[in-house]
Amino acid sequence: MIPGIAPKPAAPPVASVPQPRHMFVFGAGFVGRYVSEHLLAQGWQVSGTCTSPAKKRELEMLGVKASVFDATESNSSLQSIHSLQQATHLLISIPPIPGIGDPLLNLNEDLRRILSDGNLEWLCYLSSTSVYGDCGGALVDEDHMVNPKSESAKLRYEAEKGWLNLVNHLNLSAFIFRLGGIYGPGRSD
Ligand SMILES: NC(=O)c1ccc[n+]([C@@H]2O[C@H](COP(=O)([O-])OP(=O)(O)OC[C@H]3O[C@@H](n4cnc5c(N)ncnc54)[C@H](OP(=O)(O)O)[C@@H]3O)[C@@H](O)[C@H]2O)c1
Repeated sequence: MIPGIAPKPAAPPVASVPQPRHMFVFGAGFVGRYVSEHLLAQGWQVSGTCTSPAKKRELEMLGVKASVFDATESNSSLQSIHSLQQATHLLISIPPIPGIGDPLLNLNEDLRRILSDGNLEWLCYLSSTSVYGDCGGALVDEDHMVNPKSESAKLRYEAEKGWLNLVNHLNLSAFIFRLGGIYGPGRSD
């Protein structure tokens, strides 16, 4: 050490600033709300949609930044949902609608533009085991062939394909969870 000159402290390692994790839940219903509460408890930011002002207030009480959004309304648009563009993670929990299909995928252009300009890293679509059709009680896993028979199962399978298509376009990682019946307080209990 040179006398009279204090050594310079070592430069701190250049740390990349971690991006805050932000889940956006399209359809914060039974599953979406449960996921939201768990993520909020873990320090995530959570935003989401519901179809009524009363549910919006309930979500806000939990700490969710909520927006009223009904995808079947003729003037429905994603433009006003500003938190969507800030989301790092996206959970899609709105089911397909008979005669319409997946209402969000019908807003495909808006969706592509907003999501490709945003921070999205991960997307999850909540589907249903109905896409396997009637398997006669056989054990079914993800490798089982799909065979959607009912109208709603066909729409569900179309929605899966639509989301995978969008995800490919956006170059994201994605999950499709094919849910069976979920039981719990207030639901099928
Ligand atoms: N729970 C199960 O046992 C089960 C089994 C298989 C598959 N799934 C599928 O998994 C997903 C989540 O299930 P869940 O039990 O959480 O369903 P849920 O409680 O019915 O939640 C569905 C969400 O979608 C919203 N939504 C419905 N129609 C809409 C529309 N036209 N525009 C905008 N939002 C709309 C609802 O809004 P509001 O909050 O305002 O009502 C709600 O937030 C659904 O797609 C469901 O079909 C569930």
